[in-house]
Formats: sequence, structure tokens, C-alpha cells
Amino acid sequence: MSSLPNNITSSWSPAPAEASHGVAVRAAGRVFHERFGAAPRWLAVAPGRVNLIGEHTDYNGGYVLPLAIDRHVVIAAAPAAGDGGRLRVYSAAVDTTVDIRLDGSEPPGEPSWANYLRGVVRAFADRGLALGSIDAAIVSDLPLGGGLSSSAALEVATATLLEKAAGTTLDPEEKARLCRQAEHDFAGVPCGVMDQLASVVGDAAGALLIDCRSEQVRVIPFADPAVSVLICNTNMKHALADGAYARRRTECAEASLQLGVATLRDATPAMVEAANGKLDPVIARRARHVTTENLRTVAAAAHLEAGEFAEVGHLMYASHRSLRDDFEVSSAELDAMVDIAREIGPAGGVLGSRMTGGGFGGCTVSLVRTDFVASVAGTMAAEYRKRTGRTATTFVSRPAQGAHVVDPLTVV
Ligand code: GLA
Repeated sequence: MSSLPNNITSSWSPAPAEASHGVAVRAAGRVFHERFGAAPRWLAVAPGRVNLIGEHTDYNGGYVLPLAIDRHVVIAAAPAAGDGGRLRVYSAAVDTTVDIRLDGSEPPGEPSWANYLRGVVRAFADRGLALGSIDAAIVSDLPLGGGLSSSAALEVATATLLEKAAGTTLDPEEKARLCRQAEHDFAGVPCGVMDQLASVVGDAAGALLIDCRSEQVRVIPFADPAVSVLICNTNMKHALADGAYARRRTECAEASLQLGVATLRDATPAMVEAANGKLDPVIARRARHVTTENLRTVAAAAHLEAGEFAEVGHLMYASHRSLRDDFEVSSAELDAMVDIAREIGPAGGVLGSRMTGGGFGGCTVSLVRTDFVASVAGTMAAEYRKRTGRTATTFVSRPAQGAHVVDPLTVV
């Protein structure tokens, strides 16, 4: 996937949503023009997401509280000449062009980044949606493999482009499910629906409380300028396809079987406690995480809505402990980052912090008083380097709008 110049992703920037969005969109238009010698017809934009709380609950029918962030995958594209229906797509990051047949006949293959597109193309073909040839160029200012849903954003940007090209509009939930299917079948990650749904239905007004069983979404307003969402990337890539994620899913399925419920959404911490001794200890810990995390997520949404940020922060720390000790998906680097945030504490402007996304690397998310955010970001990066010898990347994001198409004529 293509990326922007380093200074956009590697430094802390308090830039407002529109600024970053504009930069990515303009860069995509420019790359398309350089590559194909004409202006694009469409700029399909899909945001990444950061999850405030509710981790490893989505595939258990539970609750999540993500927000779409102002970091995007942008695909600049235009109809191309020639029949036979193919998507010719250029990625500047790897300086590679790939041709994908639009009849859906392509299996997953190399290069692997193109599998996200192949999977979405297959889903459109399966629905009988006819597509003529398309030229496209991808640009992203989302860190790749950083737990901010760069792959979901690529799937959703592709689906958004293909909707336009096919002259159709999918229902948002169906669009998210279709993209999730692409991830399952073409990237080998049996993920839940959170990432794709957040990228599709993101709302600049706030975070999204998603009931992953009914797929109902409620926007929890989060516009208080006094509090910011700070994202700290450990720059340790997470790889969900290596089996650990899939193993957690299997363990959760096993837990619901042993507890006699359809999904862990139907279980409570008390049920897990009562079954203790009968359950395999690992399975019991997994179930304890999911059942307590669901409660924390619903409580956090209520506190967020009431502007009770300190309470949200406490729940975030508790979530991190649960992910570290019971679900065992944290890492030494993520733990170091959360420890640093906790040590800075409320006096230094930090209200709460936790790992975000699938885990095993990637980012932390922290709630920080806006007045302190520059100094917190500086301390986090400096301390992280001291403790791990590694370089962190930090940035702030406001909630962002979900996937949409920008008319290139409106981009200056
Ligand atoms: C990854 C998956 C999501 C979700 C999170 C953990 O991001 O893609 O579906 O399971 O991990 O909450």
C-alpha cells in the first residue's frame, strides 16, 4: 500500500481532521495523475479506527466503542479503456502495479497487499455487480500493521470505489460484512466486524457504541475540545494472521460451549466465576476478559456521554490489565507505553490508557487533557525510548467521518 511522506506519519501533529484528510486526498490525486496522465474521476476515502474500549468482544457478539480516525486510505481512480474488466492498481509505497480481473475469478496470491482488493472484487462479482475496467492509485497515511485497521480501511476504500463504479450503494452493514468476508477469505484473519463497520459508518460527532450481535450503532457524542485522543504506536508490527488471533477466537468458542451459551455475550462474569474449577483455567481467563470487557464498554459509553472522562480512563486501565493478564494479547512494549501513561497520571494530563486493536504490538490509545497533549506525547516518546530502546510514533485524532467519495474537482 502506498504511503505519504514520512513527516506526516512520524511526528506528533495536532492537525485538525480536515487538514490531514486533505493532504492524503491531494496526494492520491497527484499520484494518480503522475501514473496515468489524467485526473482521477473518484477519490474513495476510508478512515482507520482506534478502539477506545471493547477489545476481542466483537466476534463474541459483544460491545465495542471505536471511533473512526482522521487517517485514511485513499484510492484515486477513473474508468479505463478496454474491455475484459480489470482493475489496474498502483501502490506508490511498494512502487508496484497490479492487475486484478474484475470477474472475481482471482484467488488470493502475491503481492499480498492486493489480496484485500481481490477479496472485495470477488464479493462484488458474487453479487453480480458488473464493472468496467478501472485505473487506480492508492495512498495511505495510516500506519500499516499498527492496529489502526489499515487493512479494513483498504477493503472499505475498495468497496467504496466499486460501489461508485458499479453505480450502486450497499447497505452499510452489508458493506462492512462483505469487507470482513474479504479479510477472512483472502487475508486469512477470522476477524469480527468492528474495524470494517467503524470505517464504513464513522461519524465526526463521536465514538461508535456498536452492539456486534445486532450490528446496531449508536453515536456517543465526543466533541469536548478539552479532551484529546492520543495514539502511540509502539512501532512493533502486529501480525494477526500468524494464528494467535484465530486461537483466541477458538478459545472463546470453547468457553461458550463449556458455559452452555451461544456466544460469550450471553455469559456474565458471575457465570464464569461460578464455573471456575470446572473450566479449563486458560478458557476461564479468556471468558472472564470478554464478559468483564462487555460491562466495561457499556459503562464507558455512558460515562463518555456524560463527560465523565476520569471514569472512562479508569475503565481503560482495567481493560488493559484484563487484556494483558486474562486474554494475554498485550506485549512488553504495549505494557511499557501504558505504564508510562499511568505514571504521568492525571496531574500530568493523562486520564486513561490501554492497548488498542488486536494486540501483540501496534498502538495504545490514551485520553489526555488537550492542554497537556503535546507534553504528554513528548514524555511518552522519550520514556518509551529509554525503556525499550525503540522509537514511538504519536499523534492525536478527532473522530472522523466514515468512508465516502470525494469529487476531485472539489480538491484544491
Ligand atoms: C482486530 C480485529 C477486530 C477485533 C479486534 C480486537 O482488530 O480485526 O475484529 O476483533 O482485533 O478487538
